[in-house]
Amino acid sequence: MPRREMLVLVGLVLCLTPADALTAFPPKFQVGKVNGNVVIKCNTSEQRVTWTQNGEPEPMAELVAEGQTLTILGLDLPAAGNYSCWAGTVLLDTTYVVVSGTREEGMNVSCQAESYRGSFHCSWTGPYSAVFRARLTRSDGSLGEWVPAASHHGRFSASFVDPSFCPFAEELHPLQLQLEGLSDTSYLNFSIHFFVRDIVRPDPPQELTVQRRGEQLHLAWAPPASWPLPRSYFALRYWLQYELPNGTQVDKYVEGAEETRLRARARRVRISCQDPYAKPAWSPWTAWQGVDVTQQRQLRAR
Ligand SMILES: *[C@@H]1O[C@H](CO)[C@@H](O)[C@H](O)[C@H]1NC(C)=O
Ligand SMILES: *[C@@H]1O[C@H](CO)[C@@H](O)[C@H](O)[C@H]1NC(C)=O
Ligand SMILES: *[C@@H]1O[C@H](CO)[C@@H](O)[C@H](O)[C@H]1NC(C)=O
Ligand SMILES: *[C@@H]1O[C@H](CO)[C@@H](O)[C@H](O)[C@H]1NC(C)=O
Ligand SMILES: *[C@@H]1O[C@H](CO)[C@@H](O)[C@H](O)[C@H]1NC(C)=O
Repeated sequence: MPRREMLVLVGLVLCLTPADALTAFPPKFQVGKVNGNVVIKCNTSEQRVTWTQNGEPEPMAELVAEGQTLTILGLDLPAAGNYSCWAGTVLLDTTYVVVSGTREEGMNVSCQAESYRGSFHCSWTGPYSAVFRARLTRSDGSLGEWVPAASHHGRFSASFVDPSFCPFAEELHPLQLQLEGLSDTSYLNFSIHFFVRDIVRPDPPQELTVQRRGEQLHLAWAPPASWPLPRSYFALRYWLQYELPNGTQVDKYVEGAEETRLRARARRVRISCQDPYAKPAWSPWTAWQGVDVTQQRQLRAR
């Protein structure tokens, strides 16, 4: 392909990106139905204001301006966007107008808590150009603040804390999370319900140590630092995996203890854990921990 045509193509692709793509949730927005009318108010005491849509004085919409209000007649996608009111060159107020969305499927929300401390993390998919925010209805029924979502290639995520969450009480009501998204032209609104006990996935256990004692390996570890106490109440089930000198992997499960012995000559070991009373989500693995090979050779030589 000649270089000039390539340049033109690159230019086209760059220009197709909307000039006013949202980078943050706008402070003021209004949702309208397709073909419905939307009334916007300019928050000012100025008697005469002029309006722009996406910075243009010639909006792509049928409008009626009267005093501080603007009515958009028969809302459609080209009529959506950033409406600003001005006194001469002074910007007075801005409202972002969007069409209510029909797309609610495919958001694929997934939430995860590392413990029963009332903090968790959720992620979901959405249009690449969208901005999202989310808000938690806490376990005591109070409403949390809006949390802006981070975005990465159409995957959105945010972290939440429920300060009223009690790790010792049985959860009687699910938490509710409301998600609100604005893409260039449309509004998305949906909510999910869940119990923390259903989304718990512990952090990996910590401080795994391997000691040779005679013919045996003695392994010891500690629960993840984020796991609540007391241990008698917040029990964990452990999954040990070790690798034999010939490469075979062997599994061993331990419950109610934080140490164990292996009779085998293991090359390396790793460990994971889960809450035996919640849905079975295993923690990520710890890194493989090598067993001192010289020690093993000496042992075999004896
Ligand atoms: C209107 O503007 C005033 C002053 O800036 C502000 O205090 C008030 O919250 C605004 N009202 C709305 C509805 O945005
Ligand atoms: C809307 O337009 C105003 C005026 O041009 C600008 O200051 C503001 O940043 C725009 N907002 C968005 C969300 O594009
Ligand atoms: C939903 O998200 C999870 C985790 O991010 C992913 O593993 C799964 O494939 C997704 N499912 C769909 C239908 O997109
Ligand atoms: C979004 O949905 C919630 C209920 O899930 C509702 O209370 C709220 O009014 C909706 N917001 C808009 C702007 O439609
Ligand atoms: C590896 O060693 C173990 C124990 O010595 C033995 O049971 C297993 O069959 C061996 N596996 C292979 C693939 O040789």
